[in-house]
Amino acid sequence: MLRLGVWMAKGDPILVVENLRAYYPSKKGLVRAVDDVSIVVREGECVGILGESGSGKTSLALSVMGLFERIARFSAGASNDPELMRAFREGKKPLEERPGVSGKVIFRGQDMLSIPEDERVKIRGKELSLIPQGLGHALNPQHSIGYQTAEPVEVHEDEIRLIELKRKVLEYLGIVQLADAGLRYVMDPSTFSGGESQRILIAMALIAGPYMVIADEPTSALDVTMQRQILNVLGMVRDDFDVSLLLISHDAGVVAELSNRVAVMYCGKIMEFGPAVKMFHEPDHPYTMGLMSSFPTIAMMQMKAGKRPRLRGIPGDPPDLTEIPSGCPFNPRCRFAIDICREQVPEYREVETDHWIRCHRYGDLSEE
Ligand SMILES: Nc1ncnc2c1ncn2[C@@H]1O[C@H](COP(=O)(O)OP(=O)(O)O)[C@@H](O)[C@H]1O
Ligand code: SF4
Ligand SMILES: [Mg+2]
Repeated sequence: MLRLGVWMAKGDPILVVENLRAYYPSKKGLVRAVDDVSIVVREGECVGILGESGSGKTSLALSVMGLFERIARFSAGASNDPELMRAFREGKKPLEERPGVSGKVIFRGQDMLSIPEDERVKIRGKELSLIPQGLGHALNPQHSIGYQTAEPVEVHEDEIRLIELKRKVLEYLGIVQLADAGLRYVMDPSTFSGGESQRILIAMALIAGPYMVIADEPTSALDVTMQRQILNVLGMVRDDFDVSLLLISHDAGVVAELSNRVAVMYCGKIMEFGPAVKMFHEPDHPYTMGLMSSFPTIAMMQMKAGKRPRLRGIPGDPPDLTEIPSGCPFNPRCRFAIDICREQVPEYREVETDHWIRCHRYGDLSEE
């Protein structure tokens, strides 16, 4: 069983994910959305998860929250396909062939995957909170935003007085700089813009004083100006609150802005994980190199349109997760691929302190 370098000095680990697998059942077969992922988040740091759409980032977040199994089971049930529903009941198959979640998600010493649901409920929202992807479904249209912001506190604190709760709601809506919060907290979500809704969701994630917040694509539904404002709010959260952040995005610019360390995800696997400076300036994995070379630097953005160098990008598209290529999943798109890359899945290994990589050719990337 793989163990990460959690004993190292620096902040103590708050989240240790080990050999996590999260597979959906689907009519085409198993969707290996999270496939043998191991990462550590330490106290007070921001770890970015960067990957193209469909690489498994949201499934990773749901697994950490202890919500994956329920959602995958729901999808199987909603499909009305007896085969898919039976797939969940087949406990005999090896882990690699079974839908559901396996591995370890140790949050503050407790395994989110093996504790009973009523224990998880005590942790979710209070100690570990999620800012979910997609503003559309995140807020309940039936309730005022004040009511919804209060919910994480109400759920966990029976004794809190109404006046105290209202004071807290207004304090947190103020922290995320929601305009006219004192007048508008009684209004329903439809009266708020996308950027404002995202601020409300951040307030909801913070109000119960969690140790860790997972932000899943917090800026992706917003225009550029709003994105900047939300990044500023998250930067303030990182700097002024005593929380760890797991920041999930397909946008390298967003991840670069806030993360201390970055994990790059492809086909459900972490391909490289290291300090942000290393990952952006001297990546060692061919996939990270491709991602970073398709990411315009600020210096490039400041050049006149016609003078900007062309971004190289990565040829081709990620595969369907029910048909992941054998060997290294990146091999059909990798200009460094050799025979072993098509035959064996590379191991995920720590090649230097705090730098993890999944590539057969680490340290030897001459083009064939
Ligand atoms: N409820 C579901 N049932 C079956 N497959 C799903 C479900 N949700 C997501 N997937 C599939 O899982 C893979 C990973 O999705 P996701 O975790 O949302 O990736 P990302 O957040 O990186 O875009 C995709 O192939 C997606 O189509
Ligand atoms: S293992 Fe091979 S195919 Fe995969 S990234 Fe490394 S060189 Fe490319
Ligand atoms: Mg997602």
